[in-house]
Amino acid sequence: MAKKKKEQAQVLAQKQLAPGIYDCLLKTTLAKEAGPGQFIALYPKDKSTLLPRPISICEADAEKGTLRIVYRIAGAGTKEFSELKEGDTIDILGVLGNGFPLDKVKEDQTAFLMGGGIGVPPILELSKRLKCRKRIVVGYRDADCFLREDFEKNGEVYIATEDGSVGTKGNVMDAIRENALKADVIYACGPMPMLRAIKRYAEEAGIDAYISLEERMACGVGACLGCVCKTTKKDRHSHVNNARICTDGPVFEAKEVEI
Ligand SMILES: Cc1cc2nc3c(=O)[nH]c(=O)nc-3n(C[C@H](O)[C@H](O)[C@H](O)COP(=O)(O)OP(=O)(O)OC[C@H]3O[C@@H](n4cnc5c(N)ncnc54)[C@H](O)[C@@H]3O)c2cc1C
Ligand code: FES
Repeated sequence: MAKKKKEQAQVLAQKQLAPGIYDCLLKTTLAKEAGPGQFIALYPKDKSTLLPRPISICEADAEKGTLRIVYRIAGAGTKEFSELKEGDTIDILGVLGNGFPLDKVKEDQTAFLMGGGIGVPPILELSKRLKCRKRIVVGYRDADCFLREDFEKNGEVYIATEDGSVGTKGNVMDAIRENALKADVIYACGPMPMLRAIKRYAEEAGIDAYISLEERMACGVGACLGCVCKTTKKDRHSHVNNARICTDGPVFEAKEVEI
């Protein structure tokens, strides 16, 4: 795996996609190494918000040297990022995390690419890299289905909304059931209740699922143990059944983690 680098990225563009959701394009050498499911950590300039904020890679263009991130304002750090304008700079660290394994599905097979809420953005780069048949199942609160047009260029898209305003009323599992969809492998990112439902579904259907645990994080580089989860495999260093989401993940095979 490539070495992590801290560098100054330049903001090429930023726009609001939906209420509280921002779409930012960064110029950075890290674009060359970035894959789907990996993330970068962004440093707020306000030093009272000390730790860098992890944000997933939504799109990476190695040739142009650009990374696209899409994020929701959750607190002081992301609020500060939302005020960045074209030409501004921001310190970033990356590329972090393992990313989604692309070799788990053959070209003649079908994959579910499932995203919920602010777990939707990393599914976009994944949908561009996978070569198999792709059923993209994405869940939103309401009719603000950000990134929908981008997904439609990269696979069959099924939408679920909590308020029923677009697609299936309910969550991504309801959309699968309503459309009687099947797949050979699952890739998913989203809130914990969604990932638990997907883990259960994958076990019942006897298929493999790779889930990204975008848990609360602190250092982001494996030092503080603030992001540990229980696994079936033993950690190489401590010999306990723990994994650090920031360095061993954030993507895990669903049957290997207790969630
Ligand atoms: C691997 C990973 C990928 C992520 N990708 C995205 C993404 O693509 N788009 C997006 O909108 N959000 C994403 N998040 C969540 C995002 O990191 C948090 O919303 C953000 O850190 C909140 O920072 P804040 O200062 O605005 O909020 P505050 O609540 O003020 O943050 C305080 C502290 O808590 C940490 N923190 C708070 N909420 C979270 C959270 N949900 N996850 C991790 N750390 C948190 C912050 O890093 C910070 O150290 C991701 C999280 C992880 C772990
Ligand atoms: S966030 Fe510090 S070890 Fe993972």
